[in-house]
Amino acid sequence: MKAPRAAGRSTPKPAAPDVAQQLELKPGQSIDLLKALHILTRDGKLNQDSRRKLKQVYHLYQFIEPLLTELAAQDHPVSLADHGAGKSYLGFILYDLFFKNLGRGHIYGIETRAPLVEASQQLAADLGFDRMSFLNMSVADSTRTDAVPERFDVVTALHACDTATDDAIAFGLEKRARAMVLVPCCQAEVAACLRQNKAMNLARTPLAELWRHPIHTREMGSQITNVLRCLYLESQGYQVTVTELVGWEHSMKNELILAKYTGQKKRAAAERLQQLLVEFGLDQSLQHRYRLD
Ligand SMILES: C[S@@+](CC[C@H](N)C(=O)[O-])C[C@H]1O[C@@H](n2cnc3c(N)ncnc32)[C@H](O)[C@@H]1O
Repeated sequence: MKAPRAAGRSTPKPAAPDVAQQLELKPGQSIDLLKALHILTRDGKLNQDSRRKLKQVYHLYQFIEPLLTELAAQDHPVSLADHGAGKSYLGFILYDLFFKNLGRGHIYGIETRAPLVEASQQLAADLGFDRMSFLNMSVADSTRTDAVPERFDVVTALHACDTATDDAIAFGLEKRARAMVLVPCCQAEVAACLRQNKAMNLARTPLAELWRHPIHTREMGSQITNVLRCLYLESQGYQVTVTELVGWEHSMKNELILAKYTGQKKRAAAERLQQLLVEFGLDQSLQHRYRLD
């Protein structure tokens, strides 16, 4: 993203009433930020494609804001890691709407594409969003680096590609996150395993009909992956809610997984996870993703 420079580090202007109404902007949302993120054009008009992204991010905000408010009420610094950050729409809007006024806390954006990281760093500097950092590394590497804290409160991953969502879960577990907010993207790993064992499974069980056709293999792959992810989170002490992000017209990848730490590790979830891996012939290839103790 080539982010236009916002003027100095002055407080961004609030949105003009007509645009605010059309986009259903939240109170305090800065118009300069929306222009810099290309959600609005330079002359303040709507950019239709990015409007969709704003809708997704706002919807996600409804779920994240109560978690942040709860943490902030405990005089907590509040740390958030956003994985597969892309242009960091989510991070910037969270900062603008919540962290800016809170006066404490920190957002870390993790992203493998260097130009996006540099653009986000520049934009954060231009806007004076001092408590935002952007790291050019993979989600998996961010779990091991000293460049981020040992603990995180909230982990988000909005459409982080393929197995980056699994890596974000591993990050959240390692950092003992209090909450994870995940919107999985396309998924290829499980579909590839299903494809590989298809003939064997068709001979073994009529359920393999569910993924006989290539398009069904792909969809079943995603479905099974998300089910396994939820069971894994439950087995590790999280209470899990699965819901829709926004209407399908806004995104084809629309499943929102909300996980809140309760400390109650569900043994039944671990057993079911293990059984599913065996049932689908995934235990050899996927066991490494799930550390069931
Ligand atoms: C579909 S985009 C979503 C971006 C952003 N979260 C959003 O919703 O606007 C996925 C982003 O994840 C990044 N990504 C993919 N795999 C990654 C990984 N393993 N580690 C870090 N970033 C990754 C891609 O470079 C891309 O920018």
